[in-house]
Amino acid sequence: MLARAFRPELDAKRLRSMYLDFFKARAHAVIPSASLIPDGDGSVLFTTAGMHPLVPYLMGREHPAGSRLTGVQKCVRTNDIEEVGDLTHLTFFEMLGNWSLGDYYKADSIRWSFEFLTGSETLGISPDSLWVTVFDGNTDVPRDEESASIWRSLGLPPERIIFLGEEDNWWAAGPEGPCGPDTEIFYDMTGQACEAGPECSPGRCGCGRFFEIWNNVFMSYDRRGASLTPLPRRNVDTGMGLERTLAALTGVQSVYETASFKPIMAELQRLSGRSADEIAADANRLKAARVLADHIRTATFMLGDERGIRPSNQGQGYVLRRLIRRGVRYCEQLGLSPEQWVGVSDIVVREYGEVYPSLAAQADVIRSELLSEKDRFEATLARGVKLLERELERLRQEGGELLPGQTAFRLYDTYGFPFEFTQELVAEQGLTVDENGFAKAAIEHQERSRSEAAKSGLADDSVESTRYHTATHLLHAALRRVLGEHVEQKGSNINRERMRFDFSLDRPMTPLELQEAQSQVQAWIDADLPVRQRVLPHAEARSLGAIGLFNDRYGDEVSIYEIGDVSVEFCGGPHVERTSELGRFQIKKEQSSSAGVRRIRAHLTP
Ligand code: ALA
Repeated sequence: MLARAFRPELDAKRLRSMYLDFFKARAHAVIPSASLIPDGDGSVLFTTAGMHPLVPYLMGREHPAGSRLTGVQKCVRTNDIEEVGDLTHLTFFEMLGNWSLGDYYKADSIRWSFEFLTGSETLGISPDSLWVTVFDGNTDVPRDEESASIWRSLGLPPERIIFLGEEDNWWAAGPEGPCGPDTEIFYDMTGQACEAGPECSPGRCGCGRFFEIWNNVFMSYDRRGASLTPLPRRNVDTGMGLERTLAALTGVQSVYETASFKPIMAELQRLSGRSADEIAADANRLKAARVLADHIRTATFMLGDERGIRPSNQGQGYVLRRLIRRGVRYCEQLGLSPEQWVGVSDIVVREYGEVYPSLAAQADVIRSELLSEKDRFEATLARGVKLLERELERLRQEGGELLPGQTAFRLYDTYGFPFEFTQELVAEQGLTVDENGFAKAAIEHQERSRSEAAKSGLADDSVESTRYHTATHLLHAALRRVLGEHVEQKGSNINRERMRFDFSLDRPMTPLELQEAQSQVQAWIDADLPVRQRVLPHAEARSLGAIGLFNDRYGDEVSIYEIGDVSVEFCGGPHVERTSELGRFQIKKEQSSSAGVRRIRAHLTP
């Protein structure tokens, strides 16, 4: 398909400043990009849109910078990770936005978007290339005739104003919180219908003709469970994807060919010893190059965030780990070494360091963390291959042909093997993987993870282990009540069947003390106390009396878990949501562990 090259000279720097200047001239205050880790209740892992840092203000609080804001926000979305490598999907992107906090509404918002897109001083797009979608209404909220009529008054013909339902034209950052109908603006790449004919329109046709470039959300509702109530003020939240807009306007085929990606792609080409054309000629290779470009950029931004994400087995760290490991596996397809690939982070830092100074400041850490995670994965990779070889050997001896889905899932989940990778290795032996079994194991795992407080989905973050994890916090607090505040945790060990808890004490506990500690923990379980995670500055956590080891640091910030008002500990989780999920707590044994350290072994039963 031939894209209409429009402004080939446009780059990210120019687009950012043009956008901010336009809204500054309309009395908007420029706000800086917030961290990739949102503040708040922990219900989302990443900042996925420019509005995230603004949620309290959309809910009604006064913003110190006023009621008209604009800015460029760095965002991460990993729910479509499998799509990365197509024309538009990225796990990291920048979002330009303007916001009205109870100030202007639909008329100004739509008109300014139109003026910015079509104005000769700004993007100068022909209005003929613009199509929009508008909310068609549902049982709660009427069809958005107002937005449609504003678009018509700006000269858009009715056939390029498409009404669509909730799935397309209702926007919310999460299952709860501020939300509302939106109007989305699409750039018509070709000006020609595909074979779908009249059906070739935004939201209905996936032929690639339409690039969504801007979304204006009329944030006017608050969703809590099943109820949808109007917000105290009617707000506007808009988001323009920087990379997508650049791709559309510079007439390239994909976001990977925009100025933002060029230096990264060029470095990957150089390292692989292949030209852009050679890479593009092979679909697998092209996908690998795009995945590698996307993942190194996202990983670099995560590691170089103000709240410095580190690879780990939970939360944001787990997503980072997956991205790095996924990248390591794609290196072979492009013909470069993982070590060469992680070095591409230098290019990312160089390209973005000026706009995002925390990247430049942490360039060394970014590089060394990438290298160690690569090393760790290379070690796991070999062990995973060994496990697979053993399983295949057994299968052959038993005369079977189907590798159980459970094994493939274990390789996927514990050793980080993607299903397709396992499939290829197994196919080389003339065998197949039980695909349905794998899907079943994955769904079971997902259901388990969902029911946990954790959002990461780690193999050993089972419901059982999560319960024990919360129980260690309660036992820690109980021991300090019974034995005194000098008692400190020295370690713990958890599996699905039991917990061990080591703590400082220079004598055995008496039977009465043990009884008291056990009853105290049980009383807190029975009280059904809420368990809450918060990420906050280290000093603030200390001032709340947080105890424990603070390993789970996000830069200057730490994660703590509070259980009712009985326990505050430095901890990355995961934990249950309420203590009643723990059931019955029983201390089975108290013994010496080492000099000055005692060990308690305890069980939970339903
Ligand atoms: N928050 C809206 C979006 O991300 C603008 O599309």
